[in-house]
Amino acid sequence: EAHIANQLPLRNKKILVTAGPTYESIDPVRFIGNHSSGKMGFDIANHAASLGAKVILVTGPTHLQTKNELIERVDVVSAAQMYEACHRFYDEVDVAIAAAAVADYRPKQKAEQKIKKNDANFTIELEKTQDILASLGQSKKNQFLIGFALETENEVENAKAKIQKKNLDMIVLNSLQDTGAGFGTSTNKVTFIDKHFFMESFELKTKEAVAIDILNKVILHYETNN
Ligand code: CTP
Ligand code: CA
Repeated sequence: EAHIANQLPLRNKKILVTAGPTYESIDPVRFIGNHSSGKMGFDIANHAASLGAKVILVTGPTHLQTKNELIERVDVVSAAQMYEACHRFYDEVDVAIAAAAVADYRPKQKAEQKIKKNDANFTIELEKTQDILASLGQSKKNQFLIGFALETENEVENAKAKIQKKNLDMIVLNSLQDTGAGFGTSTNKVTFIDKHFFMESFELKTKEAVAIDILNKVILHYETNN
């Protein structure tokens, strides 16, 4: 029995994962988005499923596909839709991992018709989107909550501030300093920081390998808290 348990260490767990970018509409044919491929979140979802977890994968627009039967995929477009989908499932999950590159701002108004190039200058007024991860932190009961942080300066300090502000159990700090890490690549250079500010730095590795490291932390959490 112990042997089987070790093979599927997350078989009794349900994990919410967010992935990909969000698109915020400007008009019927235009949006504000970002270059997130969704790969980090999909790698986490796939590996979690291979460890026996049930996975709810809430993803923004991406070309990636899911194949594992244990993954329930929920496709969304905007930050507001991602927020709604996450809260729909949050109460029933044990773990939530926010790997999505959510837009921080959206157009205050969406034009009903395609905007014409009538003006020499054109501005779009933006407003903040909801911080999905912070709202999950606020309504946290027993969930083990993991966020990401993308920083280019004062990395550790900023990441620690995010742990506290969003009530996280752990943050995955993404370093863009080394080339070959981050958006549009298949590698990441990360540092884990837990809620006690214990830090663990990793070498540049594939996103698949980063996903394994993250889920090892989840396994360890349940080994030491049960
Ligand atoms: N996040 C989220 N909802 C948002 C913005 C971010 O859920 N509206 C999540 C991301 O999925 C990530 C974490 O918050 O797990 C940190 O994202 P990041 O962009 O690094 O930080 P922000 O809180 O958006 O702050 P800033 O961009 O100003 O550094
Ligand atoms: Ca942000």
